[in-house]
Amino acid sequence: MAASLCHFPPAVSSSSSLFVGSKSRSLLLAVSPFKHFPSKSSISASLPWTRSYAVSNDAAAFSVASPSDLRESPSLGEITRPDFPILRQVVNGFNLVYFDNAATSQKPSSVIKALSEYYELYNSNVHRGVHYLSAKATDAYEEARNKVANFVNAADRREIIFTRNATEAINLVAYSWGALNLRPGDEIVLTIAEHHSSIVPWQIVAKKTGAVLKYVELTKEVPDLDQFKGLLSKNTKLVVAHHVSNVLANLTPITFSGSVLPIDEIVDWSHKVGAKVLVDACQSVPHMVVDVQKLNVDFLVASSHKMCGPTGAGFLYGKINLLSSMPPFLGGGEMITDVFQDYSTYAEPPSRFEAGTPAIAEAIGLGAAIDYLSSIGMEKIHNYEKKLSEYLYYQLSSVPNIHIYGPAPSDTVHRAALCAFNVDNIHPTDIATFLDEQHGVAVRSGHHCAQPLHRALGVNASARASLYFYNTKEEVDTFIQALKDTIEFFTTAA
Ligand SMILES: Cc1ncc(COP(=O)(O)O)c(C=O)c1O
Repeated sequence: MAASLCHFPPAVSSSSSLFVGSKSRSLLLAVSPFKHFPSKSSISASLPWTRSYAVSNDAAAFSVASPSDLRESPSLGEITRPDFPILRQVVNGFNLVYFDNAATSQKPSSVIKALSEYYELYNSNVHRGVHYLSAKATDAYEEARNKVANFVNAADRREIIFTRNATEAINLVAYSWGALNLRPGDEIVLTIAEHHSSIVPWQIVAKKTGAVLKYVELTKEVPDLDQFKGLLSKNTKLVVAHHVSNVLANLTPITFSGSVLPIDEIVDWSHKVGAKVLVDACQSVPHMVVDVQKLNVDFLVASSHKMCGPTGAGFLYGKINLLSSMPPFLGGGEMITDVFQDYSTYAEPPSRFEAGTPAIAEAIGLGAAIDYLSSIGMEKIHNYEKKLSEYLYYQLSSVPNIHIYGPAPSDTVHRAALCAFNVDNIHPTDIATFLDEQHGVAVRSGHHCAQPLHRALGVNASARASLYFYNTKEEVDTFIQALKDTIEFFTTAA
């Protein structure tokens, strides 16, 4: 049953059979050597989201995080976490440590308020009504589009299509652009480290069109950029690449001749052979400045729920000339200009790709999330997370028998704020279960929707701790201590 779920493959280690399912959970509780760690300091009451976020984080002076780098007081994590009501709770007897941000982020009060305000004050369908509520909802929905366009620096607001999530945005490109442009023998180049949402739609479209998928493999646990460059040819019609891996944590593209290359380099290579580039920015847009014009990407996707916004919303950025040339993805209301009995004419983008009633509240909530992130500043978020993630990496490295996937941080290699790891002879699901039940620490276990990548790494699952700007060094310390306790439990109980 669990085997088909994206994030919960069956545990396979010798210890695992004890600890999967509710029965084993109680068993685990019954035999666990409880170790209670000092309570984390209580979180103060929520502050207004309108406050300014003045923190000291001199990124220029920073190379590799040491605890003192994060001791600046107050840290961005300490300042912002009161904005997130959910973080104030106690889980399994411990103050919650939420380290599953790569799966979904928590939502600040301002986003929750924007959602309830919509339903309390101006719930109405968009684009269709002439009445007050409909006009107000339409304004707010379209204003949210402006906010997304500004956030990623799109040249034209029509280049932003609201979708249900990043997955739907990729499917939109696959079914619309792919079906129109791909022919037998055409090649789609993608990396082995892509999320399933960047693989499966292309498998489906390749089957329909006769196109072929070409994978860039790993070298030293990052996509091999030499191979990447070598795979590009006049047959390449599309390049699909993640911006930041949800497992390896490398900013892709990564080390090439020892230096960090920006993704615009891959775009350059791809455009030289006439290929379009789709970037999966699910793990970058929430954490750093992403500028679609600077990157010169053709398509880029992201999900609202990973960037403090609600679930049920995501977006596709596409260059307007490409979007204008593409056929609809779904047919129905809103995406037409005229409908006759035997044919219809289609609206211009973005409406052409937003058939039916959209997720109105969710798009408005995404706009509120962008306001919130912008009030902090994406550079500030990125700089803080860089320090915190390096601290996490080095603290984790000190844990015996651990393997952390992806490159070590250095002057030239920057890691995103997550670590996927395995500990010898302990299944990651056992680790995640124990951390949750015995310590109130939420991490993810499984293949993280990246099975080809895990196969390439020689494992079928990993544990993953993923941070966001509201996490703190103290939480990393709690997590590390809890992990050590977890390992002790499993190694002594074996
Ligand atoms: C790198 C990456 N791409 C794509 C996705 C898919 O996002 P969604 O499920 O919101 O469509 C995820 C979600 O985990 C991701 O981490």
